[in-house]
Amino acid sequence: MLNLGILISGRGSNMEAILKSIKRKKIPINPSIVISNKADAKGLKIAQKLGIKTEIIESRGFKGNRQDYDKKIITVLKKYKVTPNNGLVCLAGFMRILSPEFVKTYKNRIINIHPALLPAFPGLDAQKQAIDYGSKYSGCTVHFVDSGVDTGPIILQAIVKVKNNDTEDTLAKRILVKEHQTYPEAVRLFAEKKIKIHGKKTIIS
Ligand code: GAR
Repeated sequence: MLNLGILISGRGSNMEAILKSIKRKKIPINPSIVISNKADAKGLKIAQKLGIKTEIIESRGFKGNRQDYDKKIITVLKKYKVTPNNGLVCLAGFMRILSPEFVKTYKNRIINIHPALLPAFPGLDAQKQAIDYGSKYSGCTVHFVDSGVDTGPIILQAIVKVKNNDTEDTLAKRILVKEHQTYPEAVRLFAEKKIKIHGKKTIIS
């Protein structure tokens, strides 16, 4: 079976949705490790309660460059058998850009969720970007991670209507409901080997 590593920075609600789906035996993958770049990430306690091992690799004050930091992550992933051959790495609110070396090592084995309909509104504050732009629809995107920011092949998307009186917060909450459905589904498709990548496109069987 594949081994899963989840990277978080905070609340961890997407991580929780994935872990609970696995527990309900909906996804054939072994949840090996949750890694946080912040010691106070709320998601750490949630993972522990669910019986999943956790590690902290503090990024604040880290002495070294991005590649050095990512090497530490890779070492921990490998320690828990999340390898480039049989691993999947899920970024779940992990608010760091990965080094090209990390992306290359786990090529087509890192996936991310973004709270907008990519390629619209990549980067930070995606929900605010959608509101400020006047979009009528937004949503979430699960995609493979490549060397760009939120540019990798799209696996799944879900749509949310933007209401006239939406604030960043109300829109984020409605998008989050969709995120919690979409991310576990994408992990399931990966674990069941149902996703093929053809250039920028994914074909789902
Ligand atoms: C989620 O909305 C996720 O889409 C977003 O951060 C939140 C994390 O929440 N990710 C990004 O904006 C990445 N660019 P969570 O910690 O409760 O899963």
